[in-house]
Amino acid sequence: MRCYWKRSLMTLGSLSLFFLLLLFVSLGLRTEEDSFATEESRRWAREVAMRQIYSERNGENFRELWNSSLPINISYSHLVGFPNHKKKYLTVGLSSVKRKRGNYLLETLKSIFEQSSNEELKEMVVVVHLADFDQAWNSKVVKDISRKFSHHVLSGHLIVIHAPQEHYPPLQGLKRNFNDAPDRVQFRSKQNVDYAFLLNFCANLSRYYLMLEDDILCSKSFFTAIKKVLTSREGSYWVTLEFSKLGYIGKLYQSSDLPRLAQFLLMFYQEMPCDWLLVHFRVLLTQKDVIRFKPSLFQHNGFYSSFLGTANRLKDDDFEEDSIDLPDNPPATIYTNISTFENYNPSKAYSNVGEYFWGKSPSVGDYFTIVFVKPVELTRLRIQSGTEERQSDMLQAGEVELGEDPARIKETVECSSYVKLGRFENGQFESKDIDKKIHSAVSCIKIVVTESQKEWLIIRSTSIWTKQSKA
Ligand SMILES: *[C@@H]1O[C@H](CO)[C@@H](O)[C@H](O)[C@H]1NC(C)=O
Ligand SMILES: *[C@@H]1O[C@H](CO)[C@@H](O)[C@H](O)[C@H]1NC(C)=O
Ligand SMILES: *[C@@H]1O[C@H](CO)[C@@H](O)[C@H](O)[C@H]1NC(C)=O
Ligand SMILES: *[C@@H]1O[C@H](CO)[C@@H](O)[C@H](O)[C@H]1NC(C)=O
Repeated sequence: MRCYWKRSLMTLGSLSLFFLLLLFVSLGLRTEEDSFATEESRRWAREVAMRQIYSERNGENFRELWNSSLPINISYSHLVGFPNHKKKYLTVGLSSVKRKRGNYLLETLKSIFEQSSNEELKEMVVVVHLADFDQAWNSKVVKDISRKFSHHVLSGHLIVIHAPQEHYPPLQGLKRNFNDAPDRVQFRSKQNVDYAFLLNFCANLSRYYLMLEDDILCSKSFFTAIKKVLTSREGSYWVTLEFSKLGYIGKLYQSSDLPRLAQFLLMFYQEMPCDWLLVHFRVLLTQKDVIRFKPSLFQHNGFYSSFLGTANRLKDDDFEEDSIDLPDNPPATIYTNISTFENYNPSKAYSNVGEYFWGKSPSVGDYFTIVFVKPVELTRLRIQSGTEERQSDMLQAGEVELGEDPARIKETVECSSYVKLGRFENGQFESKDIDKKIHSAVSCIKIVVTESQKEWLIIRSTSIWTKQSKA
């Protein structure tokens, strides 16, 4: 590990122009993550990153790092439990250190396990990195965890690890970016390394990885909610999916990206806090926009942030405790002949992300059709048009039809036979128990405009529930 550090620091040369550009782009973006930061710290971030880029300190092996999927060689202590031989679907990772006031780790674990069914737990593993250098504290927590969660340890649902201090890069005499006090800099720099070592350990345990913090509450069946989202996005490109708007909570990765993310956090560990580094990571891997789902599945529990027990009342107002009724929009492609405004593409209407489709004045006969990759058995459908700020951009008159037998016709795909399901009322459409009315599987959901309107059209969300999802 020491060698690794020397090598990285020595061979850091100059970033390729590509990455440089991306980094600039990312610094210019106003993202959800840094909306909590002040204008001044953003200015600082920009300056610091610019200095850093021009300092020639950064490397040729940045690109090398990008290709590498090699794990970092660390001799972890396994404090509780061991990884299963079989790969799981999801790893839930969190890192914890001693706090001046109020530790919520046990409550967090309790929430994770209580809000998951046995079926869900079979497909996931929870990994806790006890990252304090105080071994006495670690031992005490291990004892508490073993006592309280022995059942989950024995079932292979819970692993607790520790990375020895000797693996850590220097934590003294660090750069004082953002004018932070030295102990603040040390805290956030160590935290980046804590996370890097956690990610490195988890890289091979499952298909997907979810980052949580040690002071959170989960909503019911968050696992199933996440799985629905992943199924509906199959085949689309993404780096980070967000299930909370707070700090490093509810951020989802594909496990194959974890070695890179771990190396990235190590490389820039003293530059900025982890939630900023995460934004850069996403942008460097060319996911430009935040993809965040509503409702949020995770919420802060503690009132105190981990650093020196300063009051921290950041709460996620999109949190919903019960996520069991989330729609499961199956994979689909959307076709419309309504003229799209800028990049408010049709696909933006097909998720619970806070985005929408925006089209110009639709005319009678225009359509907006969702074509499923595979036919589905619909149970419930809800379509919302307009937004609170732009209520007038709702669909004033429209119908919804269901179709089967899709066929490609030039640029689009059309179903051949349609039945009418109902009409829009006040810009909204909702239909339940569809499987009792329509007995065959559905391939197309088509919205047809029945009166031309001067106003533009926003389709804010389409929520689809299917039969499989009830299992
Ligand atoms: C990274 O991988 C790409 C494609 O696999 C390869 O062309 C390139 O040479 C690699 N770069 C480095 C620095 O290893
Ligand atoms: C990992 O590190 C240990 C000691 O720190 C060393 O004995 C071992 O050879 C290393 N393994 C690899 C693959 O580098
Ligand atoms: C990852 O796990 C698979 C099987 O679960 C194993 O064959 C492989 O060697 C592991 N890779 C690493 C880098 O540990
Ligand atoms: C969209 O397609 C429908 C049906 O083919 C047609 O009636 C309508 O005029 C088309 N609208 C535009 C803007 O092309």
